[in-house]
Amino acid sequence: MNILGINAYHGNASAALVCDGKLVAAVEEERFNRVKYAAGFPAAAIRYCLKEAGITLADLDHVAVPRNPYARLGTKLFYALRMPSFARERARVISKFTGIPAALAWAFDSDPAKIKAAFHRVEHHQAHLASAFFVSPFEHAALLSADGLGDFASSMWSLGSGSRMRIDGAIAFPHSLGLYYSAVTQYLGFLKFGDEYKVMGLAAYGQPAYLEAFRDILRFNNNGGDFGFKLGLDYFTHHKTGPEMSWAESDQTPTLGKMFSEAMPRLLKAPARQPQEPLEQRHRDMASSLQARLEEVYLGMLSKLAAQTGAKAICLAGGVAFNCVANGKIFDATPFDQVYVHPAAGDAGLAVGAAYFVWHQILGKPRSFVLDHPYWGPEYSTAEMQTAIQASAVSRGGHSIEELPEEELLHRTAAIIAEGKILGWYQGRAEWGPRALGNRSIVADPRRPEMKEILNRRIKHREIFRPFAPSILAEKTGEWFEKSYPSPFMNLAYAVRAEKRDKIPAPTHVDGTGRLQTVTREANPRYHALIREFEKQTGVPVVLNTSFNDNEPIVCRPEEALDCYLRTQMDALVLGNFVITRQ
Ligand SMILES: [Fe+2]
Repeated sequence: MNILGINAYHGNASAALVCDGKLVAAVEEERFNRVKYAAGFPAAAIRYCLKEAGITLADLDHVAVPRNPYARLGTKLFYALRMPSFARERARVISKFTGIPAALAWAFDSDPAKIKAAFHRVEHHQAHLASAFFVSPFEHAALLSADGLGDFASSMWSLGSGSRMRIDGAIAFPHSLGLYYSAVTQYLGFLKFGDEYKVMGLAAYGQPAYLEAFRDILRFNNNGGDFGFKLGLDYFTHHKTGPEMSWAESDQTPTLGKMFSEAMPRLLKAPARQPQEPLEQRHRDMASSLQARLEEVYLGMLSKLAAQTGAKAICLAGGVAFNCVANGKIFDATPFDQVYVHPAAGDAGLAVGAAYFVWHQILGKPRSFVLDHPYWGPEYSTAEMQTAIQASAVSRGGHSIEELPEEELLHRTAAIIAEGKILGWYQGRAEWGPRALGNRSIVADPRRPEMKEILNRRIKHREIFRPFAPSILAEKTGEWFEKSYPSPFMNLAYAVRAEKRDKIPAPTHVDGTGRLQTVTREANPRYHALIREFEKQTGVPVVLNTSFNDNEPIVCRPEEALDCYLRTQMDALVLGNFVITRQ
């Protein structure tokens, strides 16, 4: 049985295909159309998923979309009456949703009558919860989804057991942890969609001097003894104007309208920072306070969820679940001792969640699959790599190109890294989710403190305060970090052991933590072998890993990897078994 999940007409458009309960393929549209966080209809992503499975549209039994226009209809109507423009935008999007069968037929130049699949609308947060639980290794777990907004809710919690989820509660618009973080991110002068990451990185440079003020911006909800939170709405505008997200077309990155009110600068006793203004200590302290308050509320909710459900395991999804700093504190701050975060915890992951919601919650099928590695995207053959190399400027002089057997390849590559060179590492299937996890990565020596600055200046062109991440041999995690629970998808940050911090300064953040990827041989044999070879040569079982891109979606095809290598000043590129170096 073939189930296609689609996140369409929404940021992070994506598709995923589940065949007889097993995930076959999952990919974001941005990897194909090269527009970051692309919205619109994910035609290329769907095409790839079908090709990977060797099937056509006519072979689909179910199509699942993670939006239910009837969810929270009362709340929607209430706000639609108060915000006509928002209602119009929503109506436009919803009308596109109801046209998904037609859009599919159009995109594939196929007769709509040939599509026999049943269509399912899965509520946004139920799809997030399904993406976290149904592919986790747990039979029983508490589940939390938290993001900006989806189907007029921002959070939902649940108890998962076998192939069922029991939805226990939700928090509706306008209260939202995600919009709390986004609004303050804007106030701090970071205006682009997805900039919350930057502010999380900045937080480590400050002190939570504004914590009391942030406790007024984001409050605990003590009404009725229920757990949860509410926003101090005076500081926001989205409940009056609607969150002005434009999920425009697939060739555009979504944009956000202003979300904070004039009461926010009054409370914080400082005007909002303009993007071009320098960052001052007060901005760092505000970022720190924003993060500290998020952690109080998020970890507080998780503790109560643990008490309510009695579960020892927690599954997380929704954009807030990308807060690796807060996630890393779950083990100490809550009773949970097992954590699973979906690798595409943001809205891309809805495609997987919606498909598995149909398979388990609707069809009642038993569990048979664990998403224990992130490599569900496109792969290109050696012949395709060769063709790309021949067509590229690298084959017209100035570069050495060699094809090497595995052992020599790893030896040479580890030596390149150990010499302090910057390496593009391109292998196998592309990662699902926003993190490069050893198949589309830029890899560098973690022992060199200057590496962070070199990478930023030469390749990544991003803010100096943002940390780089370490990939570590999973079996060595406890020797280098204060926690050893697996973090295969880079969604947890742990403190680096004090005595190791000066051994891996480049991916150790200013507060002594690292957003680590624990690498097993089973998940990625070649990347594991590379890090082991690096350890053999240097004594350090860690490499610095950052995504293979330069202010663009992560490279997908060999051509894009070659272009990025040439455009930036990368020293070497390993493309499958080809080693390309500058001469
Ligand atoms: Fe979401």
